[in-house]
Amino acid sequence: MASSHVMKDGPPPGPPPKMQPAMMMFSSKYWSRRGMSLDSAMFQQQRHTGGQMSRRQSFCPIKEKPDSEGAAEDSGKTAVIFSLKNEVGCLVRALRVFQEKRVNLNHIESRVSRRVLGEVEIFADCSCSKKEFNELLQILRDHVNIVSFNTAEHTWSAEADEDEVPWFPMKISELDQCSHRVLMYGSELDADHPGFKDEVYRQRRKYFVEVAMNYKFGQPIPCIEYTPEEVRTWGVVFRELTKLYPTHACREYLKNLPLLTKHCGYREDNIPQLEDVSLFLRERSGFTVRPVAGYLSPRDFLAGLAYRVFNCTQYVRHSTDPLYTPEPDTCHELLGHVPLLADPKFAQFSQEIGLASLGASDDDVQKLATCYFFTIEFGLCKQDGQLRAYGAGLLSSIGELRHALSDQACVKMFDPRLTCNQECLITTFQEVYFVSDSFEEAKEKMREFAKTIKRPFSVYYNPYTQSIDLLKDTRSIENVVQDLRSDLTTVCDALGKMNTYMGI
Ligand SMILES: [Fe+2]
Repeated sequence: MASSHVMKDGPPPGPPPKMQPAMMMFSSKYWSRRGMSLDSAMFQQQRHTGGQMSRRQSFCPIKEKPDSEGAAEDSGKTAVIFSLKNEVGCLVRALRVFQEKRVNLNHIESRVSRRVLGEVEIFADCSCSKKEFNELLQILRDHVNIVSFNTAEHTWSAEADEDEVPWFPMKISELDQCSHRVLMYGSELDADHPGFKDEVYRQRRKYFVEVAMNYKFGQPIPCIEYTPEEVRTWGVVFRELTKLYPTHACREYLKNLPLLTKHCGYREDNIPQLEDVSLFLRERSGFTVRPVAGYLSPRDFLAGLAYRVFNCTQYVRHSTDPLYTPEPDTCHELLGHVPLLADPKFAQFSQEIGLASLGASDDDVQKLATCYFFTIEFGLCKQDGQLRAYGAGLLSSIGELRHALSDQACVKMFDPRLTCNQECLITTFQEVYFVSDSFEEAKEKMREFAKTIKRPFSVYYNPYTQSIDLLKDTRSIENVVQDLRSDLTTVCDALGKMNTYMGI
């Protein structure tokens, strides 16, 4: 989520070191640099019980209106963060929308945007009904850029049964809420982004944002008609990386890449479509992919893994530097992640991390995100006595892929209890890489680690309903035991038949 490419393959002179794309999603340093940590913290603090927002000191309070009591019965408190040009009259026009939609402002704050030069971000805490809030957002989008908002489902949720348990999706369709809650829109590029001054590129990015934000669970993923320039950029990345794979990628990766060429059109002159990739994965490991507009918080991203859903960007990095991108792009997703997601054991391992994150505390989610980072993004494995890469951050970065398997790299055994405290570096190669003997072994270790996570329940993924069962009382546990008993009966029956066949 290719900058590693830049630093390690020979950085251009002058500009500051660039970030690893994969790291950025999970690095608090990154968010902090971009002023994202506050936003993510805010929405991670939504609880089943209320959705009350925390105040953030970096915002300057504007005494717009005192807290009001006695809202209508169907009203609830919610909040929205939007950005607008720092010009006279812009805020007034935006606030007029609140007035017109009869949304009661409890409190507003402002701060200089750290995402877009010359813009101001406004945090508005308000009271209204779900309907009013949804209408407000619709109209507000015409006037400002909405950075983030507290979804109605969270705010007005009636599920107040688990004190202090952060909200999480209970069924696969609820991932729509997670995937739409991007921390940064793909069209709002930083000043140091290679495409920042390219208006055509920025417009194109807006299109990808639109596709992702309109996507809902169950729909086919829209087919993208990539431009010749985008295909050329992909082609350079594809050509350079595929030279390294035979000697650097793990066995499972090498097994699946030719299949992807055959079934999904993985070729130098063709960017595969997510819909094809999703169908391919579903048949092999039960994973699917869905388009995403930009960065998600670790909590929202990991929640997708719990349902074997991987959030994929669809845009292509800027053409001026094909071997560098400051954010994850479709080259990273398709070449880094997808081949491994087709492996059933890897898929199980990924889901294990996702399941452990559901309802976990912010601290525990951060630890899980770090484990994700050092495995699914930067993991190594031993095969036939040799180190091989299975992490997507490595498999989509020429420079770091070479480095991680060289004598220069420090490699330790993967142990979630230790790995979770390792610092994720964003401007250099990792100081340490973690190696596992197999995905099976890594999964067992994650499962053990998950037991240390404090939750008042266990979670069980029901593949038939694609939903989560909370195991918190004897009845819910009994239901799972019934299912397991049925599976065991099938296994015993199969063993009996084998015994008969073998004459035992
Ligand atoms: Fe990634």
